[in-house]
Amino acid sequence: MRSTAAKYPDYKLRPLRADDVTQLKYLHTQWFPVEYPNSWYHDITTDTERYMTLAAVQEDTIIGLVVTELRQSKSCSPDEIALLDRAQLRDSILTYIMTLGVRQPFRRMGIASVLVKEILSRLKTLPEVKGVYLHVLASNKHAIKFYESLGFGCCEFIPHYYSIMGHFQNAYCYILYMHDGQPPPTPMQVIIRSLRSVFSYVYTLWMYVYMATKSKLRQHRTIAAG
Ligand SMILES: CC(C)(COP(=O)(O)OP(=O)(O)OC[C@H]1O[C@@H](n2cnc3c(N)ncnc32)[C@H](O)[C@@H]1OP(=O)(O)O)[C@@H](O)C(=O)NCCC(=O)NCCS
Repeated sequence: MRSTAAKYPDYKLRPLRADDVTQLKYLHTQWFPVEYPNSWYHDITTDTERYMTLAAVQEDTIIGLVVTELRQSKSCSPDEIALLDRAQLRDSILTYIMTLGVRQPFRRMGIASVLVKEILSRLKTLPEVKGVYLHVLASNKHAIKFYESLGFGCCEFIPHYYSIMGHFQNAYCYILYMHDGQPPPTPMQVIIRSLRSVFSYVYTLWMYVYMATKSKLRQHRTIAAG
């Protein structure tokens, strides 16, 4: 597929492949202070059911890439499950953006936006996907601006989420809900929902008693008139 949305460079979009691993290792070392095991590089380039990936390439050079993982809610951690309303957990999928990066000379040219938007449009064809989320270093202001520019919302501040070279670093979790996915209700929403159902129960009961009394009165009047 040829890109049309980017402002400047010409490039193509394609999924990551097994022969990208050397480039991927180089780029990930450049962009992220986290080391990924060899098995991870193998998995993201071969397991297309679990990982949805996309690279922006010029000839054989990757200039930007995104790696996402489709996580079934039944195999999600409690922290991940807490991102979704309990009523929606059954058979749903949460997609995690594992890594996203663009080579320095190609930044601010819309490439990451094209990559993420393309992933989002593919996920939109999967109704069981209820949200796309990620963690970002609290100090990574550029990435935070980037995700906010695409409509992702901050759902959690997580102190000491990353351990980087022996130092703990804080993170934010950002999420974009889709297919009516929604966060768990707040305590106030729980109270309002409970009050609503109590009110609805009392109202139904009252209507029942009222109708029953009315019909008895009518019967009584008919007998008296007869
Ligand atoms: C974050 C990153 C992927 C953005 O890639 P990009 O291709 O430059 O992003 P885009 O050009 O699509 O930017 C889209 C919007 O995001 C925001 N944005 C992106 N980079 C920004 C920056 N450095 N400063 C301020 N806002 C920025 C802007 O709103 C921008 O729109 P604009 O250029 O019209 O103002 C890139 O900076 C990068 O590779 N960083 C290193 C790796 C990284 O931190 N990845 C994220 C890990 S969670």
